[in-house]
Amino acid sequence: MAGKEKYYITTPIYYPSNKLHIGNAYTTVLADAMARFKRLTGFEVCFLTGTDEHGQKIEREAAAAQKKPQTFVEEIVAWIKELWRELDISYDDFIRTTEKRHYEKVQQIFTRFYEQGDIYKGKYEGWYCTPCEAYWQERQLLDGKNCPDCGRPVELIAEEAYFFRMSRYADRLLEHIEADAQFILPPSRKNEMINNFLKPGLEDLCVSRTSFNWGIPVPFDPDHVIYVWLDALSNYITALGFGGAGDKMARFWPADLQLIGKDILRFHTIYWPIFLMALDLPLPKTIFGHGWLLLEEGKMSKSKGNVVDPMLLSERYGADAVRYFLLREIPMGQDGVYSLEALIKRINTDLANDLGNLVSRTMTMVERYFDGILPAAVGEPSASDRELQELALQTPSAMERCMDELKINEALAELWKLVRRSNKYIDENSPWELARDSEKRERLGTVMYHLVESIRFIGVLAGPFMPRLPERIWSQIGLAGEAAAKLRDWRSVHRWGQMKPGTAVRREEDLFPRLNLGRELHREIRLPETAASGPEEQRKRAAPVSEKIEEGGLITIDQFGRLDLRVVTVTAALPVAGADQLLQLTVDLGAAGERQVVAGIARHYRPEELTGKQVLYVANLKPVKLRGVLSEGMLLAAEDEQGRLALTTLDQPLAPGSRVR
Ligand code: MSP
Repeated sequence: MAGKEKYYITTPIYYPSNKLHIGNAYTTVLADAMARFKRLTGFEVCFLTGTDEHGQKIEREAAAAQKKPQTFVEEIVAWIKELWRELDISYDDFIRTTEKRHYEKVQQIFTRFYEQGDIYKGKYEGWYCTPCEAYWQERQLLDGKNCPDCGRPVELIAEEAYFFRMSRYADRLLEHIEADAQFILPPSRKNEMINNFLKPGLEDLCVSRTSFNWGIPVPFDPDHVIYVWLDALSNYITALGFGGAGDKMARFWPADLQLIGKDILRFHTIYWPIFLMALDLPLPKTIFGHGWLLLEEGKMSKSKGNVVDPMLLSERYGADAVRYFLLREIPMGQDGVYSLEALIKRINTDLANDLGNLVSRTMTMVERYFDGILPAAVGEPSASDRELQELALQTPSAMERCMDELKINEALAELWKLVRRSNKYIDENSPWELARDSEKRERLGTVMYHLVESIRFIGVLAGPFMPRLPERIWSQIGLAGEAAAKLRDWRSVHRWGQMKPGTAVRREEDLFPRLNLGRELHREIRLPETAASGPEEQRKRAAPVSEKIEEGGLITIDQFGRLDLRVVTVTAALPVAGADQLLQLTVDLGAAGERQVVAGIARHYRPEELTGKQVLYVANLKPVKLRGVLSEGMLLAAEDEQGRLALTTLDQPLAPGSRVR
């Protein structure tokens, strides 16, 4: 058999600052889905990530935390690894720039550049942005004093330094970028690089510093440390053991996909290829600059304290749901908006309604009609059978095409066509009606078989995106053991009809329980006091949505008594600007006066229907701001599996403020 084709995929290496946010996790989740998809489809994958631990920024952050840089990064790197474990990031290698295997190779690379005449010693005077670790020319500064990338003030620096002769390679690079349409993606980013950086002419790059120590020393001039970007970019080859005995360069280099955020495109599409040319190495096949993850109010920013913590989010909603949201919501290459509302909506519609219901309905029906034993498909397939089969068989290649075009969100959209088609198949065939007629028992069996087989396809194809989901499907459709491995691989989704009739299936707990939007918004994780995500804050764990109150799910009467439940009368109701699910209500609490409540009921009640209604209300809930509007307390409502919602009103009027007991 021919050997496997290789696939080398990298993410940027992360700064071990103590606040990795959901935007940082976006890059890695995208790369992980890609790596897993390639593994599923038969590639030998090397997926690299790691940490970028040197530089003035880290040195300063460590000093502020009154720690040595090495001690400071150690804790955070451990936390980053824990975050990747939580999000099921299946990296093959994790490189740290403080490791010997990296450190020594970077020194060798620097020396080689110097000996080749690519690097020379000169004097530097210029503007430096420490948070971005980037030099700027005066004409590039914002308002003459701020970094054009992050907007923060730059510092004037004058020092003896080493320089890299960028001009030596600039023409070759421009030619390459223009000739190879796959090199910089999406295509719009390519022009940005050509017009803003290459065409105006590349200045020599300052590649050493003397004003701080936390870095890799220049081996032949140890007062200088190597510029962090030269240090950091090299990770993509030092991780393969570049230049060492038995290195993996021949197998894996050039990289097939280097995935990065658009903010660091200049480093990856200009400096990095030039360093590679100077090392006589081929350039990566594709550098993809994905878009930015924004909040409704704009950029996530550490200083504003509004960063969203991926660890807390995953602990509450599950890694699969968070991954699904990130992968599905944002068209690849474009900017996207994160909001808790959008996340809950995705969970409730795509995951709970579409996928969760498909599986739970099917399992329930096989249990009810066939005692949990999968029947066989018999007879000529009907038109709807054929349609379902055909769609299932087309889905793998449709998804593969999207993945190859780096449109991960579209690959998921393809998969969801199959999920929705399967739900439609249930409605078309109305199994509950077939079940009433004993002559239609075979047809009922055929319908069940089709559904379970389609769920098998979905389980295989969803794995790269939601790695925990397949196991939860296999245990329901009787494919959990080693013996069934062949029914869970890529080949198995190229032939219809592989589920064995007679397999025992059973309904387990819902894959994705529906969430109550109002309640989730009340516990919104993105609140300044819990926003930071790092070793310190990590101790504040978020309770998973499925968590039971205590063993057996029972509470004591004293625990119940802590709730201050009251009757309120709604006196006014208004929409909340920009939030189509929220209403802002004023409620009368009798002697306690009026309160303002934000409720997630706009889809179910018009404001004018609400005034005058008496509703049960939790009066002692800690106030929070939802979409900038203060919400004190919560109205109680019930929701059924179809998503219908009803407020808990009274069957006769009572004085507002009356206690519920
Ligand atoms: N250390 C450098 C990379 C060196 S690679 C040789 C770095 N690190 S980082 O921790 O700041 O960023 C890691 C990744 O997160 C980058 O791909 C960056 O683009 C991405 N993002 C940071 N904020 C982001 C959003 N708000 N949205 C999407 N991606 C974001 O840069």
